[in-house]
Amino acid sequence: MKKVLIIGATSAIAEHCARIWAAREDELYLVGRNEAHLQTIAADLKVRGASSVAINFVNLNETDRHVAMIDAAEDAMGGVDVVLIAHGTLSNQKSCELSVEETLDEIQTNALSTISLLTLIANKFEVKRSGTICVISSVAGDRGRASNYVYGSAKAMVTAFTSGLRQRLHKSNVAVVTIKPGFVDTPMTAEFKKGLLWAKPNAVAAKILRAIDKKKAEVYVPVFWWFVMVVIRSLPTSIFKKIGL
Ligand SMILES: NC(=O)c1ccc[n+]([C@@H]2O[C@H](COP(=O)([O-])OP(=O)(O)OC[C@H]3O[C@@H](n4cnc5c(N)ncnc54)[C@H](OP(=O)(O)O)[C@@H]3O)[C@@H](O)[C@H]2O)c1
Repeated sequence: MKKVLIIGATSAIAEHCARIWAAREDELYLVGRNEAHLQTIAADLKVRGASSVAINFVNLNETDRHVAMIDAAEDAMGGVDVVLIAHGTLSNQKSCELSVEETLDEIQTNALSTISLLTLIANKFEVKRSGTICVISSVAGDRGRASNYVYGSAKAMVTAFTSGLRQRLHKSNVAVVTIKPGFVDTPMTAEFKKGLLWAKPNAVAAKILRAIDKKKAEVYVPVFWWFVMVVIRSLPTSIFKKIGL
């Protein structure tokens, strides 16, 4: 039975991950800022079989609350084995271009808050020499594109940070798993027209659990995004800057 801390637990992808852990009768500690939504998810996860479900309401941009939140999760479950960091916002690229404040807010949500959490959790896991930390980054972090480079650059920071952290923690028996989804049909992407490249959150969650169980390093979900991003990354800048991606 695992003790799982899910940060950004109201995310559709995170909720589907939590359902899998609940079916395995694991202990869950859910963190999110939307109280009503979090309570509904917690009640559902208990019915689905979770051994215990505790909740904590935190706006994750308030990084000064991270220490207390992680301590509370450890106290509630008697330790933490696995952490999933899933919160995020799909930045409005056009309005960010007109507002430094909005751009920095997006970087705060999608990169800096995650880096605060990673730093605190990594130090705890390093001391106890065990644990798995999984973060949902994005294929958008693989190459900055005109249509979403604010979000993409925040995710690039998360990907690079977890790469270094993984190398540092390897000798301490701590796994760092970076998930790079492509397009996923969730509330975040509700306004987009869906097509062949789109995945459902339950399918993505199954891949995330598999990556965590196998302590994988970086995982593209679905896997075909690995090929897509190889092509996008290898386009010469002289061509890339002229095409609209
Ligand atoms: N959907 C995709 O196509 C896609 C692709 C690649 C990567 N991802 C990443 O996958 C992760 C999960 O996203 P999703 O697709 O499951 O979308 P989602 O259902 O919209 O989930 C995002 C969650 O993040 C929470 N959140 C945002 N800012 C927060 C804050 N300051 N404090 C606490 N919670 C906050 C939101 O809470 P509220 O409901 O309270 O706003 C929401 O529950 C994100 O990191 C996202 O960037 C998604």
